[in-house]
Amino acid sequence: MTSTNDIRRSFLDYFGANGHTIVPSAPLVPHNDPTLMFVNAGMVPFKNVFTGLETRPYKTATSSQKSVRAGGKHNDLDNVGYTARHHTFFEMLGNFSFGDYFKEQAIHHAWTLLTKEWGLPADKLTATVYHTDDEAFDLWRKIAGLPDHRIIRIPTKDNFWAMGDSGPCGPCSEIFYDHGDHIWGGPPGSPEEDGDRFVEIWNLVFMQYEQEANEIVSELPKPSIDTGMGLERIAAVMQGVHNNYDTDTFKALIAESGAITRTATDGDHQASHRVIADHLRSTSFLIADGVLPANEGRGYVLRRIMRRAMRHAHIIGAKDPLIYRLVGSLVSEMGGAYPELVRAQPLIEETLLREETRFRKTLENGLRLLDEATTGMAEGGTLPGETAFKLYDTFGFPYDLTEDALRTQGLGVDRAGFDAAMAEQKAAARAAWKGSGEKASDDIWYDIAETLGSTEFVGYASTKGEGEVLAIVKDGARVDSATVGDSVAIITNQTPFYGESGGQNGDAGTITSLGGLSADVADTSKPLGRLHAHQAVISAGSVKVGDTVQLSVDVDRRDRIRANHSATHLLHAALRKELGAHVTQKGSMVAADRLRFDFSHPEALTHAQIAKVEADVNAQIRHNEEVTTRLMTPDDAIAAGAMALFGEKYGDEVRVLSMGKGDDNHYSVELCGGTHVRATGDIALLKIVSESAVSSGVRRIEALTGEAARLWLVDREDKLRQSAATLKTSPEDVPARIAALVEQSRKLERELAEAKKALALGGGASGAAPAGPEQVGNVSFMAQVIDGLDPKELRGIVDGNKKTLGSGVSAIVAVVDGRATIAVGVTDDLTGTISAVDLVRVGVEALGGKGGGGRPDMAQGGGPDGDKAAAAIEAVKARLAGSPG
Ligand code: ALA
Repeated sequence: MTSTNDIRRSFLDYFGANGHTIVPSAPLVPHNDPTLMFVNAGMVPFKNVFTGLETRPYKTATSSQKSVRAGGKHNDLDNVGYTARHHTFFEMLGNFSFGDYFKEQAIHHAWTLLTKEWGLPADKLTATVYHTDDEAFDLWRKIAGLPDHRIIRIPTKDNFWAMGDSGPCGPCSEIFYDHGDHIWGGPPGSPEEDGDRFVEIWNLVFMQYEQEANEIVSELPKPSIDTGMGLERIAAVMQGVHNNYDTDTFKALIAESGAITRTATDGDHQASHRVIADHLRSTSFLIADGVLPANEGRGYVLRRIMRRAMRHAHIIGAKDPLIYRLVGSLVSEMGGAYPELVRAQPLIEETLLREETRFRKTLENGLRLLDEATTGMAEGGTLPGETAFKLYDTFGFPYDLTEDALRTQGLGVDRAGFDAAMAEQKAAARAAWKGSGEKASDDIWYDIAETLGSTEFVGYASTKGEGEVLAIVKDGARVDSATVGDSVAIITNQTPFYGESGGQNGDAGTITSLGGLSADVADTSKPLGRLHAHQAVISAGSVKVGDTVQLSVDVDRRDRIRANHSATHLLHAALRKELGAHVTQKGSMVAADRLRFDFSHPEALTHAQIAKVEADVNAQIRHNEEVTTRLMTPDDAIAAGAMALFGEKYGDEVRVLSMGKGDDNHYSVELCGGTHVRATGDIALLKIVSESAVSSGVRRIEALTGEAARLWLVDREDKLRQSAATLKTSPEDVPARIAALVEQSRKLERELAEAKKALALGGGASGAAPAGPEQVGNVSFMAQVIDGLDPKELRGIVDGNKKTLGSGVSAIVAVVDGRATIAVGVTDDLTGTISAVDLVRVGVEALGGKGGGGRPDMAQGGGPDGDKAAAAIEAVKARLAGSPG
């Protein structure tokens, strides 16, 4: 038997040997199409190559493309498990020609591979062509020698393939395999065509046109080829089975779920085992490609698939979480072809286990409610929409899970009633919102979010992508379009632009369109925490609601933000290690040019502490460990050692960022929704540039990383070099030289002060003449104004005068740069009746100042009016005259 892995290999090898470049599968989340939820055909990653928008270094290619058809336009979810060939995940084998070969070669290759390489009997094969395509008809006759009755002309859309309402399209030719007359059914186009005997195995599309809104609008630059063959189907044919679930890969997965649950895989539980195997594949591949369960968008499709699988695990009686235990089998089956599966295995297992554990709790209660609600219902009955809504709202049952659960009993669900209940709940939330007293300007965002849904952020994995414009806001109002010069907020259904939140700045970049739009995005905000509002100025062209636009994040800026954000986590961890567990984050700001981190700590950090923290962070940077992201419940995250912000409200699920090497765990584990480096080495360097107080008990560190840190160091070095040049010494000797200069300058200052004092006391040039003691009332008084005297010297002079007087009062005013300082001394024998403080105050007042203080025997004060120095002495004198002394 040829294994599925061998078939995939030999397909790629055949086309590789025939000049095609073997292109690895693109990720399941399409980055080049905003209307597509998941890649659902082999040609999707090449869409822009067909239309000529993008060129690649090859003109022919082949791939085995991962595809998901669940949610969005192609949704096979409901049928999976109950039919032979529906899957949520499948692989599409394809060969592509971008303006190289056309119909003849395509048919030649298909026929050669099927009948010569793989040896399928020619008489089991039938081809269809579009009814007007005589050329293809003739080629099948010529190349394959098929008789006319096995080349069937089909006039319907079945033989005109289009990617969607827009995109490349063209007539196609399908190849059918006849599984034999033991199965009911007829060839395509016959009345029995809906039977299962003739199975389409390969579709050759002759890509010729491009459509928009279902209308052909232009011819492609060159006729091209796109083909698609479901690997699971061809594996069934080549392994001699009729049902895809009987092929080797599925058999292995189903055997494993049978073994673990000790249940038969072919009896009553056959469909459930098939559902589990199929859903295991789609969920695992989606998680490996970065989709994580959520309540909206792609994440919700993933959650719906997971929960559907979990209900089937419940049906076969699994008592404990089951699906996560099957990941190992899947990895051994498919990890060889898809190494991303191997890399993501722990994340897939953990995500499945968490979802299974969480959902089990409500699953049983919900099923009980469902049972009660349907007891006595006759076949063909309908579950009230309200009950379906309650199951959704209270028990987490996605709508399709309820539908699936009723299907085997022949019951349906009132979809309209479900939608009405959902609308009612939204209206109630809207009313509550109105009453919440939020800013009126937020109403516009609320309306957008409620009617158009949240923006899906696709920027963890990518910095480029397409989006559909859902709303444009200009001057606080919604508009339908905007043009050159307008400053607007643009909302798209999805975006790689990070909206400012959690301290991380929003992304900047450009938004363009094929219609000629060019808009510069200076910032992205995140109103309501759900919308990403690109703040843009339109520099060319125009934009309107409904347009498809290309969104490109300024990658250099984003990379610097990433580095600063990851560095903040390492800094936080290093501070806790160095200072203690009382250190908690009090705020942070992550910009492209720097980072700021506020944290609780009672005192300034010493230089040694700062140096140690900086050294520790840089050691982690050099370890260059990969940064990992996982999704967990807040409780699990905290149990895993994540630093959560106290008092912060977290949702049901949190992203947990782990980085660096610790003693027995990661160096840093934090809850965070921000964007981060791939590995810590990308930060390159951390330099702490300041440490300061924000408020009592809260300190702030500012730091730089990468090139900004290097430039900061270069600048410091420049300054050092300039200083050395000025000092006429080498940078190494600058500290010693400065120390010597400071010492010398101190000495000179001292000498200068001595000289000034001597000069002043000796009858300085500008000072008042030294006054001899005079009698004021019956008190001896000595006063003097000394220009240029250092106020520090006042006390010494007043003390000297007091000694000279023996008993009396002295007042001295020093005037420096127009400012005056006055000191008054009273000898001890007089302090009982005269207070130096009282006297100095009147002097200070005369100097235009306020207050003045000291003790009864010595007081000092000052004022701005140096020219009133003599008046101040007169005032003291007058006061003394009035004193009782
Ligand atoms: N793109 C074609 C398909 O999906 C081959 O059928």
